[in-house]
Amino acid sequence: MKGLILSGGKGTRLYPLTYTRAKQLLPVANKPVLFRVIEAIRDAGIREIAIVIGDTGPQVREAVGDGSQFGDVEITYIEQDAPRGLAHAVKIAQPFMGDERFVMFLGDNVIQGGISRLISEFEHHPEWHSQIVLKEVKDPRSFGVAKLADNGHIEYLIEKPAEPPSNLALVGIYMFDHHVFEAVNAIQPSKRGELEITDAIQWLITNGYTVFPYVHPGWWIDTGKARDMLEANSHVLEELTPYVAGTVDDHSEIDSRVTIEEGAEIINSVIRGPSIIGKHCKIINSYIGPFTSIYHDVTVEHSEIERSMVLEHSVLRNVPTRLYDSLIGRNADVDISDKRPFAMKLTLGDYSKVRLLKE
Ligand code: G1P
Repeated sequence: MKGLILSGGKGTRLYPLTYTRAKQLLPVANKPVLFRVIEAIRDAGIREIAIVIGDTGPQVREAVGDGSQFGDVEITYIEQDAPRGLAHAVKIAQPFMGDERFVMFLGDNVIQGGISRLISEFEHHPEWHSQIVLKEVKDPRSFGVAKLADNGHIEYLIEKPAEPPSNLALVGIYMFDHHVFEAVNAIQPSKRGELEITDAIQWLITNGYTVFPYVHPGWWIDTGKARDMLEANSHVLEELTPYVAGTVDDHSEIDSRVTIEEGAEIINSVIRGPSIIGKHCKIINSYIGPFTSIYHDVTVEHSEIERSMVLEHSVLRNVPTRLYDSLIGRNADVDISDKRPFAMKLTLGDYSKVRLLKE
């Protein structure tokens, strides 16, 4: 089997973080989501992987390279001229796939437990033309939704329905054989002007092909919004195997679920797990965690932060109240006013969000 990862899109719901970076490269527990996707496919025994890229293609190419950093993996890039939909991405991947069966994985999805079991199940059922992954969610209106019949087979699929026929959302992981190329060539663009993969799979069902559903029991997060990033971060942190490669002084206290990456220094601070402190960070007189990821080269001094993510090269200093549920981008600088007027002074990127405390 081969792998297909989609890594285009503008990530508008994650502005301002995604003005300067592909959403798939945002880290969850200090590792870009896209890297987690590549590793999941690799761990399922797949070597040849194509990544569909768009506007942020140069960044993705630079971060991922030829795949050698992931071990036995060979990466090919396929350029999509505009975000024309997931089924369009499949269409342009046809020359790469040829007649091979493949797994398609959206580069901003994080799933518990990897996909090895799914891949081997699909490999052992050559009579299945496609397999889709479903997950029960509270509100499926922003996803593709599946209606299953009493015998567990798929009755029909519908993309982003106003009135969902079930709570089963389509997770961004799909397995196909070459018949999907007939489907993507037969369907028409949806109301949002895109060729929808949900419509292509519905086409397979309508035309008598076997599409098998798998309801995923673990967690799954589509990291489209800030809230989702923080949730994915919490879940992944809970599953990390912690280690301490940096230094922790005698005045600091860290618990057993804390990872300190190499070159990081923890000075007179308390860190509660699950949390991760990135390479070459300096944490001084501060409190961090639980459920917090501090990416590399960050300084936190005289501050407290909980259930949050801070990206590289940022500085938090003398922050007077504990930060919570916060997503702080790269090179951010948060400090106290030390010159008159003693007021809040903000330099915020477009679409930033600030929630202040009432007096
Ligand atoms: C896409 C699919 C949708 C699926 C979702 C999973 O939505 O169209 O069916 O449920 O991915 O992440 P989009 O992210 O394009 O809104």
